[in-house]
Amino acid sequence: MLILGIESSCDETAAALVESGRTVRASVIAGQRELHEAFAGVVPEIASRAHVERLLPTLEATLREGGATLSDVDAISVGHRPGLIGSLLVGLAGAKALAWALGKPLIGVDHVHAHLYAGCLERDLPLFPALGLVVSGGHTSLFSLESPTQLSRLGGTIDDALGEAYDKAGSILGLPFPGGPHLDRLARQGDDRAVDFPVSRLGADSLDFSFSGLKTAMLYAARGVPGGEPAPELTERRRADLAAGFQRAACRAVILKVERALDRLASPRTLLTGGGVTANTRLRSELEGLASRRGLELRLPPLPFCLDNAAMIAGLGYHLLVSGRTDPLSLAACASSSW
Ligand code: KG4
Ligand code: ZN
Repeated sequence: MLILGIESSCDETAAALVESGRTVRASVIAGQRELHEAFAGVVPEIASRAHVERLLPTLEATLREGGATLSDVDAISVGHRPGLIGSLLVGLAGAKALAWALGKPLIGVDHVHAHLYAGCLERDLPLFPALGLVVSGGHTSLFSLESPTQLSRLGGTIDDALGEAYDKAGSILGLPFPGGPHLDRLARQGDDRAVDFPVSRLGADSLDFSFSGLKTAMLYAARGVPGGEPAPELTERRRADLAAGFQRAACRAVILKVERALDRLASPRTLLTGGGVTANTRLRSELEGLASRRGLELRLPPLPFCLDNAAMIAGLGYHLLVSGRTDPLSLAACASSSW
């Protein structure tokens, strides 16, 4: 069964062809970084206009790469929530038009849920129940999963997403947008104990996250506390130490909550992870350590599937389709998820 996936929730226009939820025949991503760089953040209106320009060329490139024509496609799967509403509408309108014209089923997929499927592409399904961790530019959440399609949310960020905190910290350190991968590289040259950053715990039982305090701590460490002592000079050494300290505290906060959630679940077998920040080198190695201590299988997506892509949308779409969950052409785009 060949599923065409479409993703346009933020600033990547992406399409993919995935066979039976597993084999990625093609995955094409048209990024827009250059359009948003000057604003140090994604500008929603610019993003939706760029999706309009890029959707058809991206679909054509995907069919070419996958050696398929539209008549080979069995269903259209599309990320319809959560995300920037104008951006979502472009991909959704394209998906509906194709589903209607081809007479094929339409499958609406939750983007955050799809991030958890990224580690299931190109391999056998993992064992369930699983704990799911999504850490991206827009989301930081924990889920309990009974199967690829059945999940419930355990907790999430009460303020900034982890990737957003990385990007803001990167911008304070003068790194290019998005700052996450640059901060990750800079941190490798620093001493992670030189500056003490706060690790947010929230309540003793909480499975929520908070990263706004960490971001403010970076601001004060780099520029000084308002009305207090001036901050030390921002030398190359100091920037690397700040990046390393930030990264240590950010990863600590994530691992702490993953441990808490694992303690709460009845015999979890797998730790499913996804989202742009799973590309982070320190987080990847800390998650590997945690999974091996707990005897769990860890599904870290390969790097191209950590960031926004449509292969995860098509892959999860297949499982929704076989469990009978298709959608009418009246399917709405939605800025938030339903959990
Ligand atoms: O999943 P994604 O492409 O978009 C959302 O759904 O939000 O994630 C993008 C986020 C950005 O905030 C980016 O800075 C972050 O992932 N990111 C990283 C790394 N690579 C990407 N953050 C930390 N370390 C990295 N190596
Ligand atoms: Zn995403």
